[in-house]
Amino acid sequence: MTAATDVIPLARPLLGEAEERAVIEVLRSRQLSLGPRGPAFEQAFAERLGATHASAVSSGTAALHLALRAVGVSDGDEVVTSPFSFVASANVILYERATPVFADIDPVTLNLDPDAAAAAITGRTTALLPVHIFGYPADVPALEAHGLPIVEDACEALGAVHADGTAVGARGHPATFAFYANKQLTTGEGGMLTMASAEHKERVDSERNQGRAPDMGWLDHDRLGFNYRLDDIACAIGLAQLERLDGMLADRARVASSYREALAGTEITLPCEDSGGRVRGWFVYVVQLPRGVDRDQTIVALRERGVQSKPYLPAIHLMSFYRRRFGHREGEFPVCEDVAARSVALPFFPEMTEGQVARVAEALLAVTRA
Ligand SMILES: Cc1ncc(COP(=O)(O)O)c(C=O)c1O
Repeated sequence: MTAATDVIPLARPLLGEAEERAVIEVLRSRQLSLGPRGPAFEQAFAERLGATHASAVSSGTAALHLALRAVGVSDGDEVVTSPFSFVASANVILYERATPVFADIDPVTLNLDPDAAAAAITGRTTALLPVHIFGYPADVPALEAHGLPIVEDACEALGAVHADGTAVGARGHPATFAFYANKQLTTGEGGMLTMASAEHKERVDSERNQGRAPDMGWLDHDRLGFNYRLDDIACAIGLAQLERLDGMLADRARVASSYREALAGTEITLPCEDSGGRVRGWFVYVVQLPRGVDRDQTIVALRERGVQSKPYLPAIHLMSFYRRRFGHREGEFPVCEDVAARSVALPFFPEMTEGQVARVAEALLAVTRA
């Protein structure tokens, strides 16, 4: 049995003196919210991606919610989306009393299959919500052919690039990013919404701030809004993290290629490689176990060897709430269900060493005999 201190964690944010200094500066300024760091973080983020506008918000979920409202999703509408995602991308559709209509995923990219999405569109579909899962760019150009508004869930995809060389988040559709502590860039909790439309930007900025228009006085509000603001401490951390983003993305890519080398030629299915000009923004390292290998036992056996792992991601339509509410059952989206049943996230973070990757790979191969 490995000593507790030797446990290899699933994720670990890379933070240093720059972030510490940034936080202290905000504390000393006494301006903890609605100060100058918000607009500075938004501008730097938009510039980095080549996006026209960016709005900082309190989470990726908040960004998704405001994006759906911006494109006009409301009561009784349908939004076509992926069942292989973090639950928030479907939940936000319910926030606006619309219905998430799931379509199956591509077995290689694990993103929404454009043909399945096309088949799921009805007269009530008012938007498409592709998810760039595990940082691999979804086929947004194929979805654009339908002429419907698109909201891109890029919460896992900072650093990803579409086939035409455009950064994910800079195609013009509202696109959302998340800054929870396991993400490529973290602010603790936080999110960002990028978009091309000035009208969307005006609405998002108002709705994140209780529905206040920029020219209105304090406590005057001209529409329904929320408190989805991101405070100055978080924005200051975000600015410092942006400075080191290239290095962190390169480190994640390095760890991913070490995993590929260590697990190549085994029965473990690895994340798909970049193809056709698409570039993954590495977020997690999720493998699929061979059919017949018990995933729960694998996770327990890895834990006993000091390696953290977890089932990731479960199919949304098979979650108890979605089953109860919509009557979903097994067999509806066979590709998603097969992948979801076999997927395991392995430890993955920028400072991970070659030795740690080797230890995880050895443990995984030993416990699965793959
Ligand atoms: C695909 C996806 N969508 C949405 C979210 C929601 O982001 P947050 O946790 O910041 O609300 C996440 C975060 O984990 C995610 O991975």
